Amino acid sequence: MSALGKSSVRLQGVYTVKALREFIGSLQLTHNTIALVPTMGNLHEGHLSLMHLAREYADIVVCSIFVNPTQFGLGEDFSGYPRTLLEDEALLEKQGLVHLVFAPEEKDIYPFGLDNTAKITMPGLSKELCGSGRPGHFDGVASVVLRLLNLISPDILVLGEKDYQQLILLKRLVRDLHLPVQIVSGVIHREADGLAMSTRNQYLSPAERKVAPKLYCELVKLSKLIKSGGEDCQTLVKQSLSSLETFGFKPEYIEVRRSIDLGKPMETESPDGLIILAAAWLGNARLIDNIQL
Ligand code: PAF
Repeated sequence: MSALGKSSVRLQGVYTVKALREFIGSLQLTHNTIALVPTMGNLHEGHLSLMHLAREYADIVVCSIFVNPTQFGLGEDFSGYPRTLLEDEALLEKQGLVHLVFAPEEKDIYPFGLDNTAKITMPGLSKELCGSGRPGHFDGVASVVLRLLNLISPDILVLGEKDYQQLILLKRLVRDLHLPVQIVSGVIHREADGLAMSTRNQYLSPAERKVAPKLYCELVKLSKLIKSGGEDCQTLVKQSLSSLETFGFKPEYIEVRRSIDLGKPMETESPDGLIILAAAWLGNARLIDNIQL
């Protein structure tokens, strides 16, 4: 049955681990399946599409809202990250697909404090691509997602494909630690002009907002050129990086990888099964995007 066919539900909010445990305990007695959509809040259409997907896969949808300090590096936007819990809850209430919002405080998630907490160290891939510009970021993501999985025991974990490297690393975490959860991913949601939806888009000035879709345009162009097989891939990537610079971006990287595991493809590899990933700064906004070939 599609999520739309299911009846609208009343949203409940819990803000402590104790209250969460009570809610989850009562669900386990009824043998309902649970899907978790982890978020940092400031919800937009992209998040809402993940709630939809979650509801297709499970009886109960839990949305966590927690701006996780351990995934932000020094000088990153942790303190300025938009916190809009009341608006988020109102949006979810209106959508009518989510049963529970879990919005804990930092001391609930990290009871021993941030300097004295157990942390997950993710393997090699976590230091490449986005990980090279954001050291420790994926260790922080894994550390919080593992805690959420332990607290909520969902059957399904729903993640967006915009954060593709995060998706692959969390799949790896689940397999590596034998976690009893199935990961389901939702496609990227885009604005009408192609810009991938993201909370950080609001850091763009009106002028930058007009330029921002060029990141996606460049990826589309690059993917067509790679598929047509004319020029060497590295040369094409260099051309794209310099086009982005011309438009005013400060690109961190554009890379072509295998979509299955983000491994580096061989030169002779066919374009099927490849993905292009990019991160670029535009003013104060760090934009990421990707496109599968
Ligand atoms: O993708 C995000 O919003 C975050 O990285 C996540 C998965 C909620 C962990 O804090």
